[in-house]
Amino acid sequence: MPTRRTTETRAGRNGVTDPSDHKTRRNGHAGRDVHLALGPRSYDILVRRGLLAHAGPEIAGRVVGGDARGRLAVVISNPKVDQSYGATVTRSLEDAGFRVRALAVPAGEVHKTLATVRRLYGSLHAEAADRRTIVVALGGGVIGDVAGYVAATYARGLDFVQIPTTLLAQVDSSVGGKVGVNFDSGKNLIGAFHQPRLVLIDPDTLYTLPRRELRSGLAEVIKYGIIYDKAFFQMLSREAAALVRLSSEHLEDAISRSCEIKARVVEQDERDEGLRAILNFGHTVGHALEAITRYRIYRHGEAIAIGMVSACLIGEEAGLTEGADTAAVIQAFRNAGFPQLGLDGRLPIEDILRLLSWDKKAVDGAARFVLLERIGRATPGHPVAEAAIRRALERQRGLSAP
Ligand code: NAD
Ligand code: GLY
Repeated sequence: MPTRRTTETRAGRNGVTDPSDHKTRRNGHAGRDVHLALGPRSYDILVRRGLLAHAGPEIAGRVVGGDARGRLAVVISNPKVDQSYGATVTRSLEDAGFRVRALAVPAGEVHKTLATVRRLYGSLHAEAADRRTIVVALGGGVIGDVAGYVAATYARGLDFVQIPTTLLAQVDSSVGGKVGVNFDSGKNLIGAFHQPRLVLIDPDTLYTLPRRELRSGLAEVIKYGIIYDKAFFQMLSREAAALVRLSSEHLEDAISRSCEIKARVVEQDERDEGLRAILNFGHTVGHALEAITRYRIYRHGEAIAIGMVSACLIGEEAGLTEGADTAAVIQAFRNAGFPQLGLDGRLPIEDILRLLSWDKKAVDGAARFVLLERIGRATPGHPVAEAAIRRALERQRGLSAP
């Protein structure tokens, strides 16, 4: 599994505009760095274009007290991401004094397993990793979750740094310290809370990301507006199409503000005992859709966009959400070009309901929902009667495509 790098590689394009000739690069707003305050587990989230090339000095300065000489940095990535970005990160780490080893995990959720974790433990052991070793996760949410879990557990915990390269990972999975792997049919069933020491977000990595992945990540960005910040939501709704094309000058702001909102929530409820549940707005039905379709039909963001519409309609049935807010949410997702917001007629509502009551957010068999009081304010823990959920899902069946 360990590989030594000998050649420099360049990022591909995947049909998205190259950053070097892009107007947002010349005129765009700078990203804001974000601080997540958790006492001794506090860390910075840096949002800056071109940051990958400065990973070494940032990690040396902010994580190991300035002296990286001889320290082992293990960069965990997948072959595709490694090919595009591994050499840049490695060179920067080596220039800063780290001894670097690259470890590859095959791409895909199917590799987010204990078997992968075990192989990574073996590679760390073979490299004589010790408590001074830094684990660097370079990739999407799968890599961040697996590498973070390895860092949480090897030698009773290693420092780790997240360098997320998908929009979803930049605005969600790299921040907040949830790490883990899937187990049998249970998604994220084995895991830990292990905060990174630093998150390095380079928006330029998004230019190689397929547009469908970008749109999927944008669902989580829009979620932050819906649950926490109405002005942010309104900006996102206006800019949605341009954000998916990476032609919006608000891209860095969208990433920074998302990280800020997640940071503010995690600071209040690190271990997910109350408020943090609002980050799962739309995920109850969304997860059910992903499970019923065996993770083959929807990208995560596509499923939770549908789930957020469900949550709005369920909120209406529960007498909490205004129809006008549901309409604004639907419009925002339409502006972003989500292909489907209605409930597919081929998915039996009975199957969805059955999965809801088994969802980990259920208490005493009754599904509890994060519901929308108004755009900018979602609250957790609302028990909703099955009949009301059924009515909402029936209404969503009738929702036409954009
Ligand atoms: P992913 O990690 O599978 O990445 C999606 C695809 O994009 C992969 O094929 C990857 O190789 C490719 N890719 C990554 N960066 C790229 C780039 N810059 N250019 C081109 N291709 C690139 O998927 P994801 O959506 O990033 O993450 C999903 C995972 O995140 C799930 O396992 C989910 O459970 C987890 N997650 C965790 C948290 C958390 O708090 N820990 C939160 C949300 C999601
Ligand atoms: N993605 C939800 C959380 O981090 O709690």
